[in-house]
Amino acid sequence: MSPLDNARARLAALDQTTLAGLYRKSMLLTRDWSTDEVTTLADLAATFEAFDRAGVKTPLFPHELNYAAFFDNSTRTKSSWAGASARLGAHPVIVDGSSTQVEHGETAEETGAMLGMNAHALGVRHDLILGAGNRFMRDSKKGIDDYLAATGDERSVPIVNLQCDIDHPTQAMADLCWLRERFPDGLAGRTITMSWAYSPSYAKPLSVAQGIVTLMTRFGAHVRLAHPKGYELLPECLDAADRHAAESGGTFTVTDDMDAAFAGADVVYPKSWGPHDLMLERVAANERRDKAALADIEGRALARNRAFTDWICDERRMALTRGGDALYMHCLPADIGDEVTPGVMAKAKVDVSREANKKVYVIMALLAAAKAKDLPQRLAALL
Ligand code: CP
Repeated sequence: MSPLDNARARLAALDQTTLAGLYRKSMLLTRDWSTDEVTTLADLAATFEAFDRAGVKTPLFPHELNYAAFFDNSTRTKSSWAGASARLGAHPVIVDGSSTQVEHGETAEETGAMLGMNAHALGVRHDLILGAGNRFMRDSKKGIDDYLAATGDERSVPIVNLQCDIDHPTQAMADLCWLRERFPDGLAGRTITMSWAYSPSYAKPLSVAQGIVTLMTRFGAHVRLAHPKGYELLPECLDAADRHAAESGGTFTVTDDMDAAFAGADVVYPKSWGPHDLMLERVAANERRDKAALADIEGRALARNRAFTDWICDERRMALTRGGDALYMHCLPADIGDEVTPGVMAKAKVDVSREANKKVYVIMALLAAAKAKDLPQRLAALL
């Protein structure tokens, strides 16, 4: 099939009823969306990718401003936000969240109102403090929505969660798009292992692992979560994963044995996150803005990690997987030599880049579905 025919076929196959229901919808957690909605969003992302591969431009929102505030570092998600905005004809602006007036006490609701008045979409990354990031996004959304309603402004100004303390929806959706491409017959019956891995670099957020187990359990897969004792994920995410597995006919299991989690797996996703109790301890220290306490917690988290340097994705463990050749996934950046051996990463180099590339299309899909009422017709007109 030619790239153009592929773009046409993707567009024709979209579930227009479910897509219409995404108008004005923001994805703050994937678990807030139905499986039909998540699937339609992935279909729309694949459609934007097909348009891009066919060289069909999609300037749906010219002269608009897509503003994003990052309260933590990023390479991939920032460039995906900019790439998605540019492909949609909008102007991206990315600011360091710590340079906003939030540091000086401006509330999330006030920030949302200010940005909602000037911008046409708002992306936020706020992932390091449990209980804070997703709440900030919800409060910002309330600020935007209340301001628009009070001024009779009909614009749809969606919020995109570019990683919070609970979920990393654009990452998990990008990972889903990549898995759907690699397993075109579906994920049902496949074994997907989300494993903790050792990191000496920093105490990473829990949200990637939480996003993966919450989302991948929706499609009938056998999802395994592995981590050492003390690295538990948030109970609400484990509950969602349990529920999704039961509803989809899959399974969700938790183990503290990395080898057992790798045995026979089709997909492995070994990645670090911080110890549960210390991530909770960070909350109070952050509220007190106690930099010394935060540094002390970080030091203790890394010392705790050092007890588990053998939690590495190496050639021996990859040999335990199905056919010794599981699909290796990582959201990146990986700690090469600690989370994964250089040899395993070298073999997966192109795969993890292709995985990362899906995020630009996921963000395009989230923005376009939320902002364009008649999206299938507008996309058809571009072909
Ligand atoms: N995976 C991911 O979100 O990458 P960045 O932190 O570089 O955005």
